[in-house]
Amino acid sequence: MVAKVIDGKAFAANVRAQVADHVASLKKTNGITPGLAVVLVGEDPASQVYVRSKGKQTVEVGMNSYEHKLDASTSEEDLLALVDRLNNDPDVHGILVQLPLPKHLNEDLVINSIDPAKDVDGFHISNVGLLGTGQKSMVPCTPLGCLMMLRNHHGSLSGMDAVVIGRSNIVGKPMAQLLLGDSCTVTIAHSRTKDLPDVVRRADIVVAAVGRPEMVPGDWIKPGATVIDVGINRIERDGKNVLVGDVHYESAAQTAGAITPVPGGVGPMTIACLLANTLTACCRANGLPEPEGLTA
Ligand code: GUN
Repeated sequence: MVAKVIDGKAFAANVRAQVADHVASLKKTNGITPGLAVVLVGEDPASQVYVRSKGKQTVEVGMNSYEHKLDASTSEEDLLALVDRLNNDPDVHGILVQLPLPKHLNEDLVINSIDPAKDVDGFHISNVGLLGTGQKSMVPCTPLGCLMMLRNHHGSLSGMDAVVIGRSNIVGKPMAQLLLGDSCTVTIAHSRTKDLPDVVRRADIVVAAVGRPEMVPGDWIKPGATVIDVGINRIERDGKNVLVGDVHYESAAQTAGAITPVPGGVGPMTIACLLANTLTACCRANGLPEPEGLTA
């Protein structure tokens, strides 16, 4: 079998178009423009690229973008004071503090100072708890994007065997919660898992989120399974810098039923879901119906 390629770039463009439509009607009907504030502390080059891209896409869907760039030496007190101001600003519906923060700042403390209703990353401990107990929450963007693509491909996920490889707070754990919420039988595998190949071979859905280049070979994939590759690893091959996932794409695509490529799979969905979360937060803040198909 040669897998169907799940085109994350096209899927993300479709999500952004749905967000843009909804934003336009919010403006017209309710006179409300959703606003996203992004806070960047320091000059990490990768973070600067992400933040620029977030700001550009926010404006493209018709939302207001507020960028706060702070010096790397900013004190925790000053950062917390900014978050407090954004929490109390009615024009700001979503707040994202770009991670990683410089070492002298306590990430948990800063993230948990964000109003959970504006926590469009879904990292606040309240949102983690709400997701874990099946209640309405803000859902982390990358797992939400993976869930959207899986639902689109399969319709119902009920009863499917899903393996999530990786147990991070940002992807692995919330991904497992979302799959459980959609009635999958979920296994979270990690570096200490025994017989990982056999565990993966049982799965109808494989979500790889470990950050190890091409760690999952094609012969671990059950014929017809759906493979979602969250990894974005930069490696050198034949003297060139290339991006590869956590899955060995060429071999996995021979066995899988469907697979996301790297690049152009999960990657573009993350910012699209950030915009969707900002819209959702804005609708909730104003007591308006949430956008359909853009939440968990
Ligand atoms: N750094 C890399 N990815 C992310 C993300 O999704 N959210 C935040 N806040 N920081 C990041």
